Amino acid sequence: MFTIENQATGKIFRTDGDNAILDDALIHGLNFPYGCQKGFCGKCKATIVEGEVGYEGDIPNGITPEEVADGMALLCQCRAKSDVSLVVDELDSVADIEVRSLPCKVESIKHLNHDVVQVFLKIPGAESLQYLAGQYIDLVHPNFEPRAFSIANAPTNSSLIELHVRQIEDGKFTNFVFNELREKSLLRLEGPKGDFFFREESKKPVILVAGGTGFGPVKSIIEHAIATKLNRQIYLYWGVRDEVDLYMDLPQQWVNEHDNIHFVPVLSEPNEAWQGRTGFVHESVLADFDDLTGYEIYACGPPAMVKSAASTFVEQGMIKDNFFSDAFVFAFTGKK
Ligand SMILES: Cc1cc2nc3c(=O)[nH]c(=O)nc-3n(C[C@H](O)[C@H](O)[C@H](O)COP(=O)(O)OP(=O)(O)OC[C@H]3O[C@@H](n4cnc5c(N)ncnc54)[C@H](O)[C@@H]3O)c2cc1C
Ligand code: FES
Repeated sequence: MFTIENQATGKIFRTDGDNAILDDALIHGLNFPYGCQKGFCGKCKATIVEGEVGYEGDIPNGITPEEVADGMALLCQCRAKSDVSLVVDELDSVADIEVRSLPCKVESIKHLNHDVVQVFLKIPGAESLQYLAGQYIDLVHPNFEPRAFSIANAPTNSSLIELHVRQIEDGKFTNFVFNELREKSLLRLEGPKGDFFFREESKKPVILVAGGTGFGPVKSIIEHAIATKLNRQIYLYWGVRDEVDLYMDLPQQWVNEHDNIHFVPVLSEPNEAWQGRTGFVHESVLADFDDLTGYEIYACGPPAMVKSAASTFVEQGMIKDNFFSDAFVFAFTGKK
């Protein structure tokens, strides 16, 4: 095993040298920049300060022999041959990431409960989508206006995009997803979009408040935090109507496997057997934290939930700059 250190950020990960350095960096949750992942675009270029890297075959087109002689390398193509210290600017803001329009194919659709489906979209060929945990994409189909959906998986395999789509009564696009979209159907996506993304540089404990399918981007954030071995305390509150709407068991698994992750499900219309928290999800946060001053808070889901959380959390000490949100407003302008 070799150790790779990014001197620009001090972050370190281990690789066995079998994969390209970029692939292992992404698996470990580091936001190294990249584009084509095929050695053409040059976006993954880094300076090798110490250590040895090598390519399988010729030097790729995305780097010149002069750049190689100057100690530069294409991380999507080169493998470590020893411990390596390198310098690359990791992405920490959406301003660093290009919004792209890409074709995608439905890899799978799975019903998670009565009104939520999990859709995996595959971006074909050499393309992939770089994004930060928490961001969303617009799905584009010629018969509809674009609709926004948050990315539910961590940015470790960015040619496969996971979405959690809730069926809206009389909703044109979500009913199309439920009733007509099939495996291998073709769509386009535009993204990544939005400034709801996880701030990794902060050391504050994190409160994540999800309403319904607002769990999707929160899942992306927690999976990313696990991949980066983040040791900040993470408190997840997931508000839904009834138990059946807690459409994934993952939170309990996270709690079982990670001491720093805590989970509180909150039901607004519970069945009689429910022994846990009830009411609106933000009320449970207020009940558990007398003073929210030292916390970073992420809220995602229905607009009313996000609005109530924002105003009441400020009254309980939350600093506005430490609040990040995505309200699932309707992406519909009235035509199709
Ligand atoms: C940034 C962002 C991220 C989002 N991420 C997700 C996500 O990860 N998962 C997800 O399931 N949804 C998400 N949404 C909401 C999603 O975009 C809408 O539910 C979707 O556009 C509805 O499309 P539709 O064609 O089915 O409904 P439309 O035909 O556009 O609307 C039909 C009727 O339903 C109402 N309506 C539309 N959307 C909603 C809604 N969200 N809640 C309640 N009533 C609604 C409309 O006012 C209208 O009366 C997100 C929205 C935004 C802005
Ligand atoms: S990502 Fe395009 S050359 Fe490496």
